[in-house]
Amino acid sequence: MGKGEKKVAIVGAGQCKFGRRMDASYRELAYEATHKAFEDSGLTPKDVQYSVIGVAGAEFFNGQLAPAAAAADYCGLNPQGSMRVEAACATGSAAIRVAYGTILSGLADIIMVLGFEKMNEVPTARAVEALGRGGDAQWEFNWWGTTFPAFYALMATRHMHDFGTTEEQLAKVAVKSHKYGALNPYAHMQKAITLEEAMKSRVIASPLKLYDCSLITDGAAAVIMASASIAKKICDTPVWITGLGCASEGEYFAAKPSYVGLNSAVEAGRQAFKMAKIELKDVNVADVHDCFTIAEIMALEDLGFVKKGDGGKFVEEGQTYVGGKIPTNVDGGLKAKGHPIGATGVSMAAEITKQLRGEADEGRQVSKAEYGLTHNVGATGQYAYVHIYTR
Ligand SMILES: CC(C)(COP(=O)(O)OP(=O)(O)OC[C@H]1O[C@@H](n2cnc3c(N)ncnc32)[C@H](O)[C@@H]1OP(=O)(O)O)[C@@H](O)C(=O)NCCC(=O)NCCS
Repeated sequence: MGKGEKKVAIVGAGQCKFGRRMDASYRELAYEATHKAFEDSGLTPKDVQYSVIGVAGAEFFNGQLAPAAAAADYCGLNPQGSMRVEAACATGSAAIRVAYGTILSGLADIIMVLGFEKMNEVPTARAVEALGRGGDAQWEFNWWGTTFPAFYALMATRHMHDFGTTEEQLAKVAVKSHKYGALNPYAHMQKAITLEEAMKSRVIASPLKLYDCSLITDGAAAVIMASASIAKKICDTPVWITGLGCASEGEYFAAKPSYVGLNSAVEAGRQAFKMAKIELKDVNVADVHDCFTIAEIMALEDLGFVKKGDGGKFVEEGQTYVGGKIPTNVDGGLKAKGHPIGATGVSMAAEITKQLRGEADEGRQVSKAEYGLTHNVGATGQYAYVHIYTR
């Protein structure tokens, strides 16, 4: 049984409907998410003392500098202060870590953590380019045109070579994610798919096909975090953050220490479990960074849920479904719920909060979940954040 200290909790969580949201601006998405979190907590914008806002690429996607300030104003969070956090696709988790530290420092007792990204304002090819620049933009992107599907295709190829992982095993990750995405009313894609559909989908970067890739999504998510004494007054069911880990590795893909896992994620996981004082077997539900199907397999291995190289077989055995050894991305994951990069980490935290409170949708609630984990990676491991949550 874990003994991690209960110093900071999530007391409210919400997100907007993820998707290709041509009906709303980034500010409106942010408003939807923050106000869901207000409804959930019973708090109002006046109660919030500070806001930590994650957004990765609004300059590129929306032509907006200082996007966090614009969103804070629209969401009614002024005149209290706000700041922006950026850590590529791990932006949302970095924002949660900053809020955790700010609360522990005593500077604020109640903090709004908002993450958002409105990616579909530019054509897909431009979005893929912007994301590609999240790798090394001086040499690798400009000389070779490396994109994220290409990076993860190289890792998938290496994993297949070293461990015999198959394209069917990758496709099975997508089939599982789409099953749960179909049960999540906030998911971008609410459509179950068959193994055959996944296998027959068009090749994006061999061996990765369309259904091996996460979506380019518009979305926002919010959690309200509070110090221990305040949290207990605000709600009966605070969800405590008892473990945090983070680590980084370089952006130069050609010099990666490993192509079958992310060393930064291994280290972030180690730190989080040490701080939470729990073991892997205590975790009942996980949201991991499945930007591509191979990434979910590598994440399960990097965290230690399965031995390095055995992730494909683990997926094939159904161990990542509700009822399996570690229900993983049962909200649809980045694959089907969607991946609005600045919002993703906050959406993971919102999902784990609902799971631990027993409030997830029918068919995807993990029974009596006591510990939940989020694993959120920026780029190809430049930023890795692992958080552990408990009731
Ligand atoms: C895979 C990818 C290149 C597909 O882009 P595309 O071929 O230009 O696709 P489009 O945006 O033109 O969409 C065409 C159709 O495919 C669907 N589609 C797009 N991406 C999809 C995905 N990942 N999974 C399933 N369907 C997808 C769209 O919904 C659309 O369907 P419709 O015609 O029924 O409306 C793009 O989704 C992508 O780059 N994903 C990865 C994002 C990423 O790297 N994120 C950061 C990771 S660290």
